[in-house]
Amino acid sequence: MSTPHIEAENGAYAKTVLMPGDPLRAKFIAKTFLTDAVQVNGVRGMLGFTGKYKGVPVSVQGSGMGCPSMGIYSYELFQFYGVENILRIGTTGSIRADLHLGDLVMAAGACTSSNYAAQYHLPGTFAPIASFPLLKTAEAIASAREGLHCVVGNVLSADVFYDDVSPVDDWKKMGVLAIEMESNALYCNAARLGKNALGMFTVSDELLTGVHATPEQRQTSFTAMMEVALDTAAAL
Ligand code: HPA
Repeated sequence: MSTPHIEAENGAYAKTVLMPGDPLRAKFIAKTFLTDAVQVNGVRGMLGFTGKYKGVPVSVQGSGMGCPSMGIYSYELFQFYGVENILRIGTTGSIRADLHLGDLVMAAGACTSSNYAAQYHLPGTFAPIASFPLLKTAEAIASAREGLHCVVGNVLSADVFYDDVSPVDDWKKMGVLAIEMESNALYCNAARLGKNALGMFTVSDELLTGVHATPEQRQTSFTAMMEVALDTAAAL
């Protein structure tokens, strides 16, 4: 079996898949943390791998950037490959003053400037939320980690990265913690298909102060988050 974007065989993915935006990060995770990792997808360079973490089968698949790309890959994994749980792992720009570089944000909800949910023709506004069992498990694992500041709340899945018009102030006033670009589509797909999803992010940019992580800081904090996500996957 294959889809337009995934060439993997039936059963090639584990029931839990970690999804970083960057396919090379998927490769890094597979090589660094998984045993017996095999590449299961290479279509468009959007690499996917399956291996084991602490003896539990886990996959890692690049999502690309933005709701449309995440929408495609997560739909295909849920619908055609029997995947049950997707953990998005990424970076984010914080818009709350107490959220600093390296902090971990878990998206209980995902607001958006994307039109992704328009496809469902709902008679109102859908509120995309994380799977509570995933969130509960992941938050407990993160909180037990010394030195890791983890905050749970709303994020904004924005459609525009280089946005010189819309003020983050309006989202900040609504208590939104941080901005990323994919979780809204992931949560919509999980809801529609009866599956589980959670997005977690390390703060790589402080949008209120204009402070950005160095490549080294990005790597270190990203590694802590990968371990939280992998331990979550192993606990499911
Ligand atoms: N905006 C959107 N996505 C991001 C950002 C940002 O500032 N930083 C990291 N991912």
